[in-house]
Amino acid sequence: MTPTTPLPDLSVPELVEVRDLTVWYGGRQVSSMPRLEVRPGECVAVVGESGSGKSTLLRAMLGLLSGTPAVTTGSVTVDGRDVLFADERELRDIRGSRVALVMQSPQGSLNPTMRLGTLIRRVLKRHGVRGAEARERIAGALASVRLPEEILRRYPSEVSGGQAQRFAIAVAVALEVAVIAADEPTSALDVTVQAEVIGVLQRLREERGLAVVLVSHDLALVSTVADRIVVMKDGEVVDEGDVEHVLHESESPYTRELIDAVPVIRPADPEPERPVEEEAAR
Ligand SMILES: Nc1ncnc2c1ncn2[C@@H]1O[C@H](COP(=O)(O)OP(=O)(O)OP(=O)(O)O)[C@@H](O)[C@H]1O
Ligand SMILES: [Mg+2]
Repeated sequence: MTPTTPLPDLSVPELVEVRDLTVWYGGRQVSSMPRLEVRPGECVAVVGESGSGKSTLLRAMLGLLSGTPAVTTGSVTVDGRDVLFADERELRDIRGSRVALVMQSPQGSLNPTMRLGTLIRRVLKRHGVRGAEARERIAGALASVRLPEEILRRYPSEVSGGQAQRFAIAVAVALEVAVIAADEPTSALDVTVQAEVIGVLQRLREERGLAVVLVSHDLALVSTVADRIVVMKDGEVVDEGDVEHVLHESESPYTRELIDAVPVIRPADPEPERPVEEEAAR
């Protein structure tokens, strides 16, 4: 199989760098990652069974564990800036300007009382982007996730799950973040809509050089989009490598178990090309 994305340019500095990260809750180690680098345009997927520590890892990478009784050691930098030991102000800045989290239930994370337009404008304003620049960024972001501008007039309850997820991604794009961290972004969606959302992430990598860290329990899905896969079990990394290696050459019994649980691993579905006008009618 030929790779769909070029090999990473190792001369480009990594956007995310994890070293010896370990997270404990109540004295129990729940997640650890010795080493991870994600460069512009790359997608690294983290897979593993429920409770294996995937979400904890992603939250640690975004500095979102602060406030919970977690103990964290090691280091995580995003675009060269320390995340684990940054104060709240720095973290807010990093989260809004360099990295954004896309969650499983987009509608749940959008304020139901606010039209989507108000919501995205407020987020941008919080990060100092307003007026003509905000309008321009919003238009560009909606186009890049194939949503019509008309959607800005709607409330979260008036859009489909797939549209809400693409809108959540559009917010990240409008903020011009460099990294999207996505935690099971498609598990609440049906299969064709999953392919659309994955297609959007894929295009953002190619067109804007966005880096994606994708957490999922769905090995078949991530194998269509990721460059590298990290396999976690019981809070530890048990396997990792490029997709071809993990799928076809892995010697890890746990990875083999995960692969055997997938009925068929199929190549990436091309994202359906749907004109923006048609999208408006959906
Ligand atoms: N705030 C918390 N306090 C105590 N324990 C926690 C907390 N958050 C997570 N854990 C524990 O850490 C472990 C890893 O949880 P995590 O949510 O990272 O798993 P996961 O791989 O994302 O699972 P899933 O696929 O179900 O989302 C679990 O045993 C969980 O119970
Ligand atoms: Mg999780």
